[in-house]
Amino acid sequence: MKKTVLITGTSSGIGKAAVIYFSEKGWNVAATMRNPQKETKLNKLPNVRLYTLDVTDEASIKIAIDSAITDFGDIDVIVNNAGYGAVGIFEKATPEQIQKQFDTNVFGVMNVTRQILPYFRKKRSGTIINVTSMGGLITFPIYSVYHGTKWAIEGWSEALSYELKPLGIKVKTVEPSAIKTDFYDRSQDLFQNAAITDYDNYEQVTLSNSQKAGETAPGPEVVAKEIFNAATETNFSIHHPVGGQAPLLLLLRRILPLSWFMGIVRSVVEKGFKGSLS
Ligand SMILES: NC(=O)c1ccc[n+]([C@@H]2O[C@H](COP(=O)([O-])OP(=O)(O)OC[C@H]3O[C@@H](n4cnc5c(N)ncnc54)[C@H](OP(=O)(O)O)[C@@H]3O)[C@@H](O)[C@H]2O)c1
Repeated sequence: MKKTVLITGTSSGIGKAAVIYFSEKGWNVAATMRNPQKETKLNKLPNVRLYTLDVTDEASIKIAIDSAITDFGDIDVIVNNAGYGAVGIFEKATPEQIQKQFDTNVFGVMNVTRQILPYFRKKRSGTIINVTSMGGLITFPIYSVYHGTKWAIEGWSEALSYELKPLGIKVKTVEPSAIKTDFYDRSQDLFQNAAITDYDNYEQVTLSNSQKAGETAPGPEVVAKEIFNAATETNFSIHHPVGGQAPLLLLLRRILPLSWFMGIVRSVVEKGFKGSLS
């Protein structure tokens, strides 16, 4: 029987590439997004159906999961991909921006997972793949709130895997490097507060260097392939760093003293910073 995957956040980027990849591999795909009425490509692919799903809306999650099980007869894999970057100087963030970032990147992932677990538990199988980030295991300047969400999901995923393994349910994380998607463009939520000027040079330099990393990054197809590998491997291994320097950076973070590692990050992301905050 064909396998079925449900993926969140498939209107663009990694989610969209994953839908295309799984479909090419002959899987049934429940491609979920906030506004499926706008989609013009995925609905033409074989074995792909679109569903409305906002990860902050419990009712939409339930309807999408129930509909996909009815339409395809099963769900084997859930890919928690939906997410975005709230970026900038922490002091400039509003409580609403911070809350929304956690509502989407953390509680959204937990919402979807909680709703699929009774189904996976009953059948004693299933795979949950969380698209976190290499930024869930290491950090960069001006991404403090985003890192807070991705580190949360990394820790939660590892811990969750203990209790789900005896039930035959796998938990996996995919940690992309910088990937060229709408992440650096329309999806980005930039913290702004013109009244705070002390960080101006630091913010300009680090934001510009970070955006450059996005512009020169590989496309989302490389991540789609790694998500597929995570979905099809038979073992319970958790982490899947992918793209650009992610595997190397995560290795360096493990073997170097933290101060050395942060020095490497600074030499790249703070390049051009005058060194004075005034
Ligand atoms: N690109 C990178 O460099 C990079 C690196 C590491 C990790 N990641 C992670 O990869 C994942 C996908 O990002 P991407 O790079 O593919 O960026 P993207 O092209 O901006 O895609 C983000 C997707 O998430 C969806 N989304 C946002 N909020 C949502 C919500 N409340 N409910 C449902 N869907 C929602 C967006 O839908 P709408 O069209 O409705 O906005 C969009 O489909 C994210 O979790 C991101 O943190 C990205």
